[in-house]
Amino acid sequence: MSEQPPPDLEELRQLAAGAPERIAATSSTDELSDLETQLVGRASLVAAARRSLGSIEDPKERGATGKAINDVAVSIQAALDERKSALASAERDAALANDAVDVTLPGKAPLRGTHHVIQSTMDEIVDIFVALGYDVASGPEAETAFYNFDALNIPETHPSRLESDTLYLDYGDEAEEVLLRTHTSPMQARYMEEHQPPAYVVVPGRVFRADAVDATHAPVFHQIEGLAVDDGITLGDLKGTLAHFAKEFFGPGTEVKFIPHYFPFTEPSAEMHAYTNGRWIELLGCGMVNPAVFEHVGYDPDAVTGFAFGMGVERMAMVRHGITDLRTLLDSDRRVLEQYK
Ligand code: PHE
Repeated sequence: MSEQPPPDLEELRQLAAGAPERIAATSSTDELSDLETQLVGRASLVAAARRSLGSIEDPKERGATGKAINDVAVSIQAALDERKSALASAERDAALANDAVDVTLPGKAPLRGTHHVIQSTMDEIVDIFVALGYDVASGPEAETAFYNFDALNIPETHPSRLESDTLYLDYGDEAEEVLLRTHTSPMQARYMEEHQPPAYVVVPGRVFRADAVDATHAPVFHQIEGLAVDDGITLGDLKGTLAHFAKEFFGPGTEVKFIPHYFPFTEPSAEMHAYTNGRWIELLGCGMVNPAVFEHVGYDPDAVTGFAFGMGVERMAMVRHGITDLRTLLDSDRRVLEQYK
């Protein structure tokens, strides 16, 4: 057995007397657990006193000293345990309070996306024609000169074919010219090639022209094409259908008038103007399908007649909402766009 000095009971009692104050001063279970190690752990005075009991020869004295050490240890441990449960419950309460969700607070409303006004205008126009029984189709934005021009009876020499108006794609060494469609009209020909008459269809889509951006022009914009081909369609059907459209889109009292115009793919051709916001405004181009177009797509020009029209979506949205600068539709500024929800 190693020679150890007998336990110093006086020192132990002082330790026991000072312990409650030190225990009370701890402010967290972590801090308390460090103090517990100091007071009663393996390296503590209490543990050292217990280890040195063996050096007391007299069994009676050893018993009494042992009991005295034990009393000190028990009293310190009791104070530690009491503080531990108080701190633990305070810490649990604090954690719960921290985590608490106050269900009575107003919620954070999630930001809701919506369609852009160009898209919603397009949808609304398409819906008006769908309600009349029209089919909806879409076609390629990269188009051949054949569908964009030739099939529509647009002559080789027409100025709209110039590079100053049309954006051509440098597409391999193909003999066929490929371009970004300048209107949705090529879908007239494509749709008729794919469908036997009667044909009633609207074609919403993006179109491209070599224009710089200003208040009324953009190199990319949207059109909606319409085509109705059947047995005995007349100019009266064209006027009635488009007058109905104007009333649906701008309001029941909307007046329209048709002014003669020229398009190679319709004959006769017209511009439809509508009276809105106190003035006449040009809305769209239209006309009776030129028999030359029927011949291109394999329809018998003696068996069917039809009308076609094409309108600019941005223009419709601008007239409807009194927007004077097209660029406000392109900026994606939420403060502006939210006004047209
Ligand atoms: N495609 C013509 C344009 O872009 C509009 C139009 C379509 C005119 C159909 C008549 C018939 O200007």
